[in-house]
Amino acid sequence: MISSPDPHIIYQVSHGVLVLQINRPDKKNALTQTMYAALAQGIVAADKDDDVNVILIRGTEDCFTSGNDVNDFVKTPDSGTERPSVQFMKAIGHARKPVIAAVGGLAIGIGTTMLLHCDLVYAAEESFMQLPFTRLGLCPEAGSSLLLQQIVGHQRASELLLLGERFSAQKAREYGIVNEVLPAAGYLEHAMNKAHELARLPADAVQTSKALIKRNQAKPLDDIITTELTEFARLLQTPEAQAVFQAFLNKKSRA
Ligand code: COA
Repeated sequence: MISSPDPHIIYQVSHGVLVLQINRPDKKNALTQTMYAALAQGIVAADKDDDVNVILIRGTEDCFTSGNDVNDFVKTPDSGTERPSVQFMKAIGHARKPVIAAVGGLAIGIGTTMLLHCDLVYAAEESFMQLPFTRLGLCPEAGSSLLLQQIVGHQRASELLLLGERFSAQKAREYGIVNEVLPAAGYLEHAMNKAHELARLPADAVQTSKALIKRNQAKPLDDIITTELTEFARLLQTPEAQAVFQAFLNKKSRA
């Protein structure tokens, strides 16, 4: 397995499981472009590595991720398809090997949308999710405008994506976004146990089964990611969105 190109993303392989840990706790694990690149490279490398059967994404114990680093939205608002964030969306969307998420604390923006690509999601009891795009003057990304309504239905997708309120892990489980909600003290261990269990199963059978489950997804997913990006880039330039991000950076308000 290659080593991580970014110190805030840790790669660790054990018993057939690649753990990708987001580790930038002083910034609530906000994701920079180099961190996205490291996540994308980890997934692509794991897909090619016979010693890895399962990928598990986690944050720090009490924080999954606060989403895209807001500085990026202000300083480098380009949303071209070559950006590492887009490479990450595509890598997780097309991963051949099962991807598991272990969510503790907060999962905001891409922290929630990446869960829609995962095959299994385990969350801690006090954790919460949020898709705050409209509140930020933006629109959904990472294929979430397609995947969320497939998973939860139109009205619930509209509730989560249009209102953009925080929602609990329990609600996420009720809606089908999360498999299990566990005590904070045990969610990571539980997710790791499931990852190891899956990694011990015949790899070809698991990967073939995953491909069958996702067989109709690839083309519509790539199309919607591209469409979302175009709208996202346009909205990012609006005075409304720029004002929200400047205010955040000036510590005047929070999303
Ligand atoms: N991008 C950049 N920095 C971020 C960040 C983000 N997405 N989320 C948190 N941080 C930084 C804060 O600026 C702060 O940095 P500082 O210590 O240098 O001032 C540090 O992380 C701690 O965050 P803070 O806001 O003080 O913690 P909190 O517990 O009061 O609130 C959040 C946590 C996540 C609710 C809040 O930081 C927030 O709303 N972040 C923005 C989330 C967002 O809009 N993400 C984009 C989605 S598309």
